[in-house]
Amino acid sequence: MTNAREITLTVNGTEHTIEVEPRQLLVHAIREELDLTGTHIGCDTGNCGACTVIKDGEPIKSCLMFATQADGSELMTVEGMEDLPEARGELHPLQEGFREEHGLQCGYCTPGMLMSGKALLDENPDPNEDEIREAISGNLCRCTGYQNIVRSIEYAADELESVAAADGGERPTDSRSASETRSDGGVAVDGEFDCGVENCCGGPTTDRERGGESE
Ligand code: FES
Ligand code: FES
Repeated sequence: MTNAREITLTVNGTEHTIEVEPRQLLVHAIREELDLTGTHIGCDTGNCGACTVIKDGEPIKSCLMFATQADGSELMTVEGMEDLPEARGELHPLQEGFREEHGLQCGYCTPGMLMSGKALLDENPDPNEDEIREAISGNLCRCTGYQNIVRSIEYAADELESVAAADGGERPTDSRSASETRSDGGVAVDGEFDCGVENCCGGPTTDRERGGESE
């Protein structure tokens, strides 16, 4: 490997030290160096959201970042969902929701949808429909329409609430504030958003903000 650089990533709780090319995208490192092919590539240009993973608690599009930029970070990919406590050794409630509410057809967008849904529910355990649509507005699906995906995430929210009630009211959360998150995978930096692309507009990218609807 020419000009390879060594980086360390903690992925789904396991630390990996790998060699990557300076220009290798994070999504390619995840898929090719770590063999975690559940993270998909739909466009490689930040448009589809198939490559969404959670990095240090934030949903990001892993095709918009070089692997070297993620050195030292903690990542979660779809492969880690079943190991989370709320999965209880089975499917994660989000995965269960997509199954029960028919939230997928070909499944290509599903890992990214699951990661955006996970990031949303970590931040907001009881989102309304608009908040769910906002959270997945950076994830494109060309099969299902979005209604069933919204229902799938609503199913997961209800299921997680039940799990929490059974556990005495504790439910998994993280410390991110709403102002730090952006639904299309952008990264919050001091109140501004940085998708990782130099001179990016940093502007709104939701379908509604563009004047369209996400369904
Ligand atoms: S592969 Fe489409 S946004 Fe990353
Ligand atoms: S289920 Fe096929 S793209 Fe979403």
